[in-house]
Amino acid sequence: LASAPPLALAHKYFQLRPDELNPLWGNPCDDIRHRRIWSKSKWCGSLPRVLVIGPQKTGSTALYSFLAMHPALVPNLPSPTTYEELQFFNNNNYLKGLDWYLNFFPANLSNSSQMAFEKSATYFDAELAPRRAHALLPTAKIIAILISPSKRAYSWYQHIRSHGDPVARNYTFHTIITANDSAPKPLKDLRNRCLNPGKYSHHLERWVSEFGAHQLHVVDGAALRAQPAAALHALQKFLKLSPHIDYNNLLKYDAKKGFFCQVTSGEKTKCLGKSKGRIYPPMEERSAKFLKRYYTPHNAALSKLLVRLGRPVPPWLKEELSNG
Ligand code: A3P
Repeated sequence: LASAPPLALAHKYFQLRPDELNPLWGNPCDDIRHRRIWSKSKWCGSLPRVLVIGPQKTGSTALYSFLAMHPALVPNLPSPTTYEELQFFNNNNYLKGLDWYLNFFPANLSNSSQMAFEKSATYFDAELAPRRAHALLPTAKIIAILISPSKRAYSWYQHIRSHGDPVARNYTFHTIITANDSAPKPLKDLRNRCLNPGKYSHHLERWVSEFGAHQLHVVDGAALRAQPAAALHALQKFLKLSPHIDYNNLLKYDAKKGFFCQVTSGEKTKCLGKSKGRIYPPMEERSAKFLKRYYTPHNAALSKLLVRLGRPVPPWLKEELSNG
């Protein structure tokens, strides 16, 4: 029998089992042996039962804030390091472990009819997120929100530009989206980050293959923006929320903001901040044309996928696939 100091032993172990280098956290409450040794102050009932996965710039924050108004839903506490989103399943926060994640959810959910939820818009297109999320939350309901991928790409460009991204500040939107593979790496990287999330069907397929179609709901972001109460009616049905509330009484169009906002008292509304609903010039015609062509195969695959899943095809998708 031979042994070694802990680090050397760990090194040896991962040499033998390289597939375990990337951990996959399961739910401790699913295993009686884990439950027995887990602290009494921890409770799996705090884990979210609903994940809003994005992608970014589709109206995911509006959706999150509207859902947070529902008495049956409890949002995560904000994270100071990730702009309020937890971004657990998609990046190194995952390596901080389950305790880190659980700290963002109230331990004392008043009754079982209340469900915790979180929104991290970067989950949608993150390679590892569906598998990791399913390992921990196999029964969670997954909500994606989609708008025209061209509009999403343009909004994302404006977003990182206003956050001072040096590449976005140095290059026009058109230069970024049309950069070819011989372009400098920072430009290509930015192009990929701008365009890849919009390949919706590719990413959705990975979520469907982990969770199954019945656990996935696709919100039409354009419909949520124009008629939030109707979109939230459908979503409440999908989540089987009780009580079923009428958002017509809770949201009001704010002409100054140009969006629906939360009614606070009487005529007053509370809207999302300046970073949501930015004012910027319309997309150049040549960029719109380029993106329409670029996204055509992806949009066609999305349309097929939605039909296969028995879901409605949003008007903007039909429009993008039309010849006009
Ligand atoms: P723009 O700022 O480009 O207009 P996300 O929250 O996923 O980052 O999405 C931001 C986008 O949400 C905004 O993009 C805006 O168009 C859209 N949006 C939809 N409904 C909104 C609402 N009620 N209030 C503010 N923005 C909303």
